[in-house]
Amino acid sequence: MTTPLLSLTWTDHVTGRQGFLVVDRLVRGVASGGLRMRPGCTLDEVAGLARGMTMKEALHYDPAARYVPLGGAKGGIDCDPRAPEAYPLLVRYLRAVRPYVESFWTTGEDLGLSQDLVDRAAAEAGLVSSIQAVYPLLDDEAAARRRLADAFAVEVDGIGLDELAGGCGVAESVLAALDAASVPYAGTRVAVQGLGTMGGATARFLTRAGLTVVAVADIKGTVYHPAGLDVEALLAARDAHGTVDRSALRPADRELPGDAWLSLDVEVLVPAAVSYAIDTGNQERIRARWIVEAANMPVLPAAEALLAARGVTVLPDVVVNSGTNAWWWWTLFGDIGADADEAFTHIRRSMRGLVEQLLARAEADGTSPRAAAHALVADRLPVIAERFGRYR
Ligand SMILES: NC(=O)c1ccc[n+]([C@@H]2O[C@H](COP(=O)([O-])OP(=O)(O)OC[C@H]3O[C@@H](n4cnc5c(N)ncnc54)[C@H](O)[C@@H]3O)[C@@H](O)[C@H]2O)c1
Repeated sequence: MTTPLLSLTWTDHVTGRQGFLVVDRLVRGVASGGLRMRPGCTLDEVAGLARGMTMKEALHYDPAARYVPLGGAKGGIDCDPRAPEAYPLLVRYLRAVRPYVESFWTTGEDLGLSQDLVDRAAAEAGLVSSIQAVYPLLDDEAAARRRLADAFAVEVDGIGLDELAGGCGVAESVLAALDAASVPYAGTRVAVQGLGTMGGATARFLTRAGLTVVAVADIKGTVYHPAGLDVEALLAARDAHGTVDRSALRPADRELPGDAWLSLDVEVLVPAAVSYAIDTGNQERIRARWIVEAANMPVLPAAEALLAARGVTVLPDVVVNSGTNAWWWWTLFGDIGADADEAFTHIRRSMRGLVEQLLARAEADGTSPRAAAHALVADRLPVIAERFGRYR
């Protein structure tokens, strides 16, 4: 792993809690990457996530598109997002890193934080926007900002388009993998860890594609029905942190322990919550054929090697969950308009193309899909550097 351009640790003067910012690299003077809040968040974790953002930006490079890549970055705050001190801490963190957000770090929601909350805290911290650093790169800033604001106002069946874009890409990755293996959608069972932004949207798109979501886990535990859950009812019963109100469960839905989602009899597992969820200790309980990483870094490398040895394919985060970031930029730079159908079509086409490329490369090189993703990035980064210079 290359050394990041910038890596900082901030200590809050009120609570003593820490926050982190890692800028892996700048491209055109800007780096993109969300901000997460979770108890136990570390600088190492944020550095890994920042590197992943560089890769996501590179993977979506299309020389013919209006959006061309930025660098990768990530922020993290070590705090429970449901704690009373969480919001004031978020505001103080954003005040502390304000010069970076103003000049080169574009950020947004990630684990533990919603975009609404990031926007509110950013305004309170004196920022114009959490993505203002990219504005100088836009041809028509006013039109671009209007387009993105309009896109954020689009809702599809009660969920904002911004909260659906990423899950649309995750679901399309699942479908592309099933198609490559000639496995029909109907009868394919799925368990999802996390029913927040990513997990919730993924569960919706997979259900609508004809798969059966038999289990979802949130912070309170796993909800399970072998014949399939009523995903829309669960989505409607979430609080702002993605916790499902258990009174919405049907009588036949069962409540299982938090880690039960992992070992159920399903074809597809979608970890869509925390990093490091699958380790060498629990990987042996997995019965699925595919693990599709909606979350960032949910499978530890040593666990992935053991899973690969017994024929379980892990589709890597840098590809699978890259739809959200790309959707922001496609919309802002004007590759797509503020329209759900246009967004979903573009996301599906791009994600399917990427997953097909990834699987073909893995097959040709005899490697894992993750190694193939890294190989694709290694091919692309010099092309991007050639066009834009390393730090211009
Ligand atoms: N939101 C985005 O735009 C985005 C984009 C790409 C990747 N990601 C990644 O996806 C993952 C989820 O992000 P999100 O924004 O959907 O988060 P979120 O805060 O919206 O939702 C998190 C969900 O995970 C559940 N959860 C938290 N801890 C858990 C635990 N220990 N066990 C079981 N469930 C748990 C919560 O109850 C909630 O349902 C993160 O790894 C994040 O980095 C998010």
